[in-house]
Amino acid sequence: MLKATDIDLYFGGFKALDRVSVAAAPGTITGLIGPNGSGKSTLLNVIGGVFVPQAGTVTLDGAGLPLGRPDEIAKRGIGRTFQVPKLAHRLTVFQNMLAGERDHCGENIADLFLRPGKVAAQERHARDRAVSILTRLGMRHKANDLAGSLSGGQQKLLTMGMLLMSDPAALLLDEPAAGVNPVLIEQQVEFLKSLRDEGRIVILIEHNMDMIANVCDRVYVLDAGHVIAEGTPAEIRANETVIRSYLGQPANSQESA
Ligand SMILES: Nc1ncnc2c1ncn2[C@@H]1O[C@H](COP(=O)(O)OP(=O)(O)O)[C@@H](O)[C@H]1O
Ligand SMILES: [Mg+2]
Repeated sequence: MLKATDIDLYFGGFKALDRVSVAAAPGTITGLIGPNGSGKSTLLNVIGGVFVPQAGTVTLDGAGLPLGRPDEIAKRGIGRTFQVPKLAHRLTVFQNMLAGERDHCGENIADLFLRPGKVAAQERHARDRAVSILTRLGMRHKANDLAGSLSGGQQKLLTMGMLLMSDPAALLLDEPAAGVNPVLIEQQVEFLKSLRDEGRIVILIEHNMDMIANVCDRVYVLDAGHVIAEGTPAEIRANETVIRSYLGQPANSQESA
């Protein structure tokens, strides 16, 4: 279980998160929704170690995570994507996948000289893993294309694949479907469900309510730094407070935003 408990986060005098608590279980997809500026990305940044909260704790399976230590948190098996994909545009898709693994696992330089056999075996393993993940993503035929030549939607799929290279316990995904065409969103949805079925923890920030309803087991609604509701997608769609503050129209006529 990945838990953030009673998180307070200030930017100067502005309180961006006010006693925010969320919990995400293995083998489930947890949605984080709310208006722009409500604190969704900030919360992922606290969990991922980018921002140090003024109060609160983050735990994985009961063990406290080091706050403000993104590298350490990645090593503990928590990976995240950003609203704007972070890729090496002038490397191929395949090279990005291999770099994704190195970033998260850390390379032991000494092994390179002292245990070349081990390094070669790891390299083979990483290559096999990259091929299998790209196949799962429906992107194997793109392996030798430059990452910079991919569409925005394909770049987002690639960043998810790069995350998976390090076999993370938890994936934190910031608006993966924004600006992505429906066919690629469908591919994302299948991929997210496969991550869930493997027993991973997935936290998903998304505005597309159809996608949220389709993939999420539980949803948290943030508004101005507060959690204003928590429940199943059906409960959230029927919640009067959520409809007033975020969905803005009766639940049965809500279209994907
Ligand atoms: N690095 C920062 N410095 C100052 N204010 C920030 C910073 N990041 C976000 N904020 C502010 O915190 C609030 C929450 O932002 P954010 O978490 O990005 O919202 P969301 O992802 O829900 O759209 C916003 O008012 C935003 O302007
Ligand atoms: Mg955001």
